[in-house]
Amino acid sequence: MKAKKLFLKAKSKLGNTIGKFFNLFSLNYFSLHDSLVHLFFGEVSLEPLVFYLPQELNNDLLETISASKLVTFDQEYNEKNNEQFSEEIIRKINDNLIFFKIEKHWVFEKVIEFVRNAIKLPIKSPFVIINFRGWISKPKSEKFGPNSLHKDGFERGHLKLMIYPNGLNLENGMLEVDGKLYSDTGPGFCVLFHNSDLIHRGIPGQLNNRISLEITLFRSLVGNKRINYYGKPSDRHYKRISSYYKGVLF
Ligand SMILES: [Fe+2]
Repeated sequence: MKAKKLFLKAKSKLGNTIGKFFNLFSLNYFSLHDSLVHLFFGEVSLEPLVFYLPQELNNDLLETISASKLVTFDQEYNEKNNEQFSEEIIRKINDNLIFFKIEKHWVFEKVIEFVRNAIKLPIKSPFVIINFRGWISKPKSEKFGPNSLHKDGFERGHLKLMIYPNGLNLENGMLEVDGKLYSDTGPGFCVLFHNSDLIHRGIPGQLNNRISLEITLFRSLVGNKRINYYGKPSDRHYKRISSYYKGVLF
């Protein structure tokens, strides 16, 4: 018991030290940090990873998300909101997308836990889940922002995992990543991909609302389950690496 306590303390100290190191001189160390992760743990395949949520969990997710309040995209400043959006972009987003107000819920926690285990091996390194958000794309909505081909432009080390509780098809909407079209999937379809390296777009449904849930994660030197991933619709990722190691405990 004592040994375990000492081990946890040492890990916590290590995390805080790493955080402080990457905060030195307030420089952007994302590339250096990612090179170290790469060196110690190896690189993640560029090929998107596809899997499914178990049916029962997906049904619970659909029920919970459908009962969530809806909110519009807004510009309220947050530590993870690090992009300035013009009024024009915000207007377009509001015309085409509606966001879920996602708050801590046991079903979301269960989904996150399932996802953590599903990607543990392919991710190779420890990682931090930093953002969880969800939205509805209205059918036949405009080709702009997430619906036009783009790369997310996140700092190195981030990956995205998308969950489509209704599955993807022509009526519900589809996803294109690196020229590959994801369609005719079953419900609870999940895809993990390098969102800033692979060009991608969402394709709105011909008939139905397209429900997307998005988990952003960051490969790190030590894991951290203490980060609050319930954010605002406009949240992206943290600006400083020290934020990923905040209060690190296991
Ligand atoms: Fe994107």
